[in-house]
Amino acid sequence: MERSRIVAANWKMNVLPSEAMSLAGQVAQALPIKNVEVIICPPFTHLFSLMSLQSESLKIGAQNCNENPFGAHTGDISAQMLKDLGCSYVIIGHSERRARQSTENARISAKIRAALQTGLKPIYCCGEGLPIREKEAHIEFVKDQLETDLSTLQTGHIEEIVIAYEPVWAIGTGKNASPEQAQEMHASIRKWLSDRFGSVLGTQTRILYGGSVKAVNALALAKQNDIDGFLVGGASLNVDEFIKIVHSVSESAND
Ligand code: PGA
Repeated sequence: MERSRIVAANWKMNVLPSEAMSLAGQVAQALPIKNVEVIICPPFTHLFSLMSLQSESLKIGAQNCNENPFGAHTGDISAQMLKDLGCSYVIIGHSERRARQSTENARISAKIRAALQTGLKPIYCCGEGLPIREKEAHIEFVKDQLETDLSTLQTGHIEEIVIAYEPVWAIGTGKNASPEQAQEMHASIRKWLSDRFGSVLGTQTRILYGGSVKAVNALALAKQNDIDGFLVGGASLNVDEFIKIVHSVSESAND
């Protein structure tokens, strides 16, 4: 079975609430694009207004959640709140959070569980930093991340997860992983999923690539067997660039 494709926009801490509707609205107008589900993940403050754009071809997601349903967690937002608002997806474990929040790594598994339990689909991020890539320990490193973050999850829930491989050295640097480097890691992630949860999950799980994806490099990456789309940061803030990326993914699905 052909896996459906995804292109997710990670706006990070960019775009003002007053500008969000115009940017996301232009994306919505270019959709649907065949075979691709587009997801926009804006800052929390924009979620409510963008919810009206949600459709079959455009979903709205958040960039993080707290693992608890409610309580004394000032400044945080729970998976349940996001679900109640109408969100479909939530990014969990982005490297910018892993790097800056000392407790983040230990909470990722619980966050994924909270998202899955409320019916939100997690976009789970993994990926190695430059020193690990230079030591050629990247495959083992990402396997360890998967073990830590996903191995305790239950089949029956985990089917909804989307994995984003984002090598830290490629994020926001303009230096993307080559199609071969990305394919090697995606195949390894798929094998880990098959070994751990069975071949059905291994075959069906969508694995996105993220890290300096642009219109010029999208098609070659998207053509790789185990790449099912992208998590796009910088280039998602430019509508023309972003839509070109979505078209490349659509084209690769039609091959
Ligand atoms: P980038 O970011 O496309 O700007 O490299 C990707 C991400 O951090 O998700």
